[in-house]
Amino acid sequence: MRPISLTGIKPTGTPHLGNYLGAIRPALDLVKNYETVYFIADYHALTTIQDGNTMRDNIYKVAATWLALGLNPEEGLFYKQSDIPEIFELSWALSCFTPKGFMNRAHAYKDSVAKNEAKGEDLDSNINMGLFSYPCLMDADILMFNANVVPVGKDQKQHVEFARDVAMRFNKKFGEILTVPESLIQEETDVIPGLDGRKMSKSYDNTIEIFLDPKSLKKKIGKIVTNAQSIEEPKDPEACNVFALYKLFASPEQAASLASRYRAGGLGWGHAKAELQALLEEALGPARERYFHLRSHTEEIDKILAYGAEKARVKSKETMALVRQALGVF
Ligand code: TRP
Repeated sequence: MRPISLTGIKPTGTPHLGNYLGAIRPALDLVKNYETVYFIADYHALTTIQDGNTMRDNIYKVAATWLALGLNPEEGLFYKQSDIPEIFELSWALSCFTPKGFMNRAHAYKDSVAKNEAKGEDLDSNINMGLFSYPCLMDADILMFNANVVPVGKDQKQHVEFARDVAMRFNKKFGEILTVPESLIQEETDVIPGLDGRKMSKSYDNTIEIFLDPKSLKKKIGKIVTNAQSIEEPKDPEACNVFALYKLFASPEQAASLASRYRAGGLGWGHAKAELQALLEEALGPARERYFHLRSHTEEIDKILAYGAEKARVKSKETMALVRQALGVF
């Protein structure tokens, strides 16, 4: 049996190329070596997204994105968290084995405390209990499906540590029931540059969304910051934001060929940008078709998620039966 990987996807906002290269693509590649579990952490998003239409739209958006980019719902599990009631039952049970001090030290909570304090706001009314106990829900997500590894960015490592800790506490009392998971840190090998050359991030407003129609994509690429060199001048590809993005999608041969055109002179920024657009179109055009198809056929997404939930609940009922038995709640 191959080890199990479990990827949680919080449905907040529209994913951009930085998310794609840094998180989505590596997570989809896990199918090569793992039994994969992917799920949409909608109830985690509820700590901040408290509008029904926005939530629903975000869930469809994120489901369509991952499906369009190659998530195969037949291969592993793909469901949404809110469809698995056992997760919430387990979350409560695990919270009874979690020292409150751990939650006081959780990064997301601490950040929120710091922000509120800086603004002179009242913590007790501004921070909801969902944010405080967020890690307990994540413990249940992870431990329910016997995950061996949890691919996460550095910011989520602490949460996986909590899940390890609570699994060990539980097992010490009740026997080897829960699988102790490990985090699989997704190292950011390449910083994905945004329009202004800084790391691509929503907070810098320098993102390129994954599925832009050709016209909007052209407009975005037009905004990539370049210098004032003339067309004739030879250029340094390594000092260019356009080339930095190009390289991330190109084959080594394509990258080498464009680099030599930069150095030879006679290649203007407009030409370089057209090369980037053509490459992105080639890499993501077919996925965009699938994405927009799914976005306008949400009933197909409903079906896929219902199918995934049904498969996932076979497993979650099994885990929960063992846990209930151990706890003596029959
Ligand atoms: N907290 C994660 C995030 O902010 C999302 C998430 C929820 C998750 N449950 C998970 C990730 C379980 C991995 C495993 O992105």
